[in-house]
Amino acid sequence: MRFSTLCTVLAGSASLAVAAPAADGKLTTGLRLIKTSPEDPGTWVTEEDKMTKYIAKKLQFIDITDITDPEVLAILSTPDGQEPEKLAVRAVTYPTSPTRQSTANPLISQVSTSSPQSWLTTLTGYNNRHYKSSTGTSSATWLFNTVKSVAAANSKITVRQFTHSAFNQPSIIATIPGNTTDLVIVGAHFDSTAGSSTARSPGADDNGSGTVTILEALRVLANAKYAPKNTLEFHFYAGEEGGLLGSAAIFSNYKSARKNVLAMLNQDMTGYSPNGKITFYTDYVDSSLTTYATKIATSYIGATASDRCGYGCSDHASARSNGFPAAYACEDKMATSSPYIHTSNDAYSTIQWPAVLRHAKFTVAFLVEASFL
Ligand SMILES: *[C@@H]1O[C@H](CO)[C@@H](O)[C@H](O)[C@H]1NC(C)=O
Ligand SMILES: *[C@@H]1O[C@H](CO)[C@@H](O)[C@H](O)[C@H]1NC(C)=O
Repeated sequence: MRFSTLCTVLAGSASLAVAAPAADGKLTTGLRLIKTSPEDPGTWVTEEDKMTKYIAKKLQFIDITDITDPEVLAILSTPDGQEPEKLAVRAVTYPTSPTRQSTANPLISQVSTSSPQSWLTTLTGYNNRHYKSSTGTSSATWLFNTVKSVAAANSKITVRQFTHSAFNQPSIIATIPGNTTDLVIVGAHFDSTAGSSTARSPGADDNGSGTVTILEALRVLANAKYAPKNTLEFHFYAGEEGGLLGSAAIFSNYKSARKNVLAMLNQDMTGYSPNGKITFYTDYVDSSLTTYATKIATSYIGATASDRCGYGCSDHASARSNGFPAAYACEDKMATSSPYIHTSNDAYSTIQWPAVLRHAKFTVAFLVEASFL
């Protein structure tokens, strides 16, 4: 999770984007172009600036250096509230209520926190999972092997690394093939940051919690050899803290390949919730999908809450900017979510396991329901 709040202030004062020093400026100078609001034309910054001038000040941004698709750039410059043109292959009409309880409930009863606790112990044990650090790369290797071992319960499931040209930490994608190639995606980022690539950043809640939440859902569906109608994918994004880098590359690839994404549900931070309610964020998301996901959560788990998190607050923004319907479920409202993120205090000991359990059960319910879309 990256904080919002001051984005609009920054956008108001942003100067016009200065052209990069050379056509390949990012290569020769290391500068990156980041955008903090629909109106912001972009600002060239160093990697260090991202940390000291933005992340440390809780300013959210999207790194658009490598985004060249004019349709994507147009959506990224469209104000919230104006639904962007859907670029998906077919429009989706979501059911008005959940109908697959008899399939979902036995699976939900298999969800537990014992594997997530073990996985999160390992994830938080890395000095950090920064997308440009060596421990960030080793954590990705460990996660890849762990996802493969969880998926091994069903030989039909494939697990692959999605590599990125600008940094060494790969994203990871697990796929449960369905009767159709239409995709239902749950995602979470696994990188963490507390500033520099060397700073201690256990990233327990942000975003170790979302990572182990969707991995637990994969464990349950793999063990049950769940055979969906639509194809289900589990995305573990690299480089979120660098400006949604991993998810932007993946969804750009999916747009080029004309993949048909019926729904993308992002979960970033699932382990700290004083209010005890899954919270749906309503800005920069697909409103129909958000309504559908909220109904599933209410029906299977209980009352939900809602809030807004601002421009580029997490990886759902990458799905949305590539024309795919995306929603974002978080542990709590902005004001009451974990106060520890992006610091060395985002520790395993602060995780509230009932919140993780709630989100993992919701993830299974969502995947089963949406697998029939
Ligand atoms: C955690 O992940 C979510 C969803 O991907 C994202 O919105 C959020 O910015 C992440 N938080 C941190 C601190 O990386
Ligand atoms: C997938 O296709 C097989 C073979 O036609 C069928 O038996 C099965 O019910 C289908 N599964 C779903 C979930 O639609």
